[in-house]
Amino acid sequence: MSQPPASPPSSSQSHSPFQSVAVEAVFPTPLWLVDLAPAVAEPLNRRLVAAILGLIEPRRALPPGANWQTDPVIHRRPEFAEVCQLVLQAAKGAQTFLKVSGGTLAITGAWANVNPPGGLNSAHGHPNNWLSAVYYVQIPPGTGAIRFADPRPQAQVLMPPVSERTSFTANDITVEAKPGRLVLFPGWLLHSVPVNRSQQERISLAFNLMFRDFTDKMAAPLWQGTAPLKD
Ligand SMILES: [Fe+2]
Repeated sequence: MSQPPASPPSSSQSHSPFQSVAVEAVFPTPLWLVDLAPAVAEPLNRRLVAAILGLIEPRRALPPGANWQTDPVIHRRPEFAEVCQLVLQAAKGAQTFLKVSGGTLAITGAWANVNPPGGLNSAHGHPNNWLSAVYYVQIPPGTGAIRFADPRPQAQVLMPPVSERTSFTANDITVEAKPGRLVLFPGWLLHSVPVNRSQQERISLAFNLMFRDFTDKMAAPLWQGTAPLKD
C-alpha cells in the first residue's frame, strides 16, 4: 500500500507532481484604510476635539466600561462638514473599487464616541447601511486598535493550531487605529473596540452610509424574466 506524503507537496519540490499551485481568496471582505495627510489631519483633529468635547457637556456619569456617545446626527452640524466630505470622498472611492455603478452614497448617521479609561465598545454591526466608517480623532498610546470578527461562523467549527495566524485562518483581525486614519468597512461586519487601558480619552467619529436612491434605482431584481411583460 502506498503511503501518503509526510508533508503536503509543493510546487517548489523538484519531484512534485504538480505543475503549479495557486491559492485564491474567494469572497474577500474589503476594509479600506485611508490616512489623511498630517497637514490636513492635525488641524482638523484639533477642531474636532474641541467640537466633540463641547457636544458631550454636561457629562453624565457613566457605568464602568461605558462611553459618551452623541446622538447620531452630527453630520448635520457645520463643524463636522469637512470630515463628512472626506468620508464621502473616500466612500466614493470604495464604491468605484467595487465597481458598484450608479447610486449616490449619503451619510445616514454619524456620531462621536469618547471612550474614557476603562471604556470599550462590544461587538456590533451597523444595520441598514451599505458602508460604515470610523475616523480617529484622538488615540492615546495603547488604544490604537479596532477588531473585526470573521463573518463566517462556520469557519470556527474547526480551528486547528497554526504556526502563524493569517487572513486565511484568523477568526478576527485587528486594525491599527491612529489619529487621521479613516477605516471603511461593510456595515454588516461585526467589530469591537478593546478596553481603553490608558489614562486618556479615546475619541473617534462613526459614520453610516447608504445609497440615497437605493429603492428607486438599485433594488430592482438583477435579472429579467423569460416571459417578458409589458408594464
Ligand atoms: Fe461601530
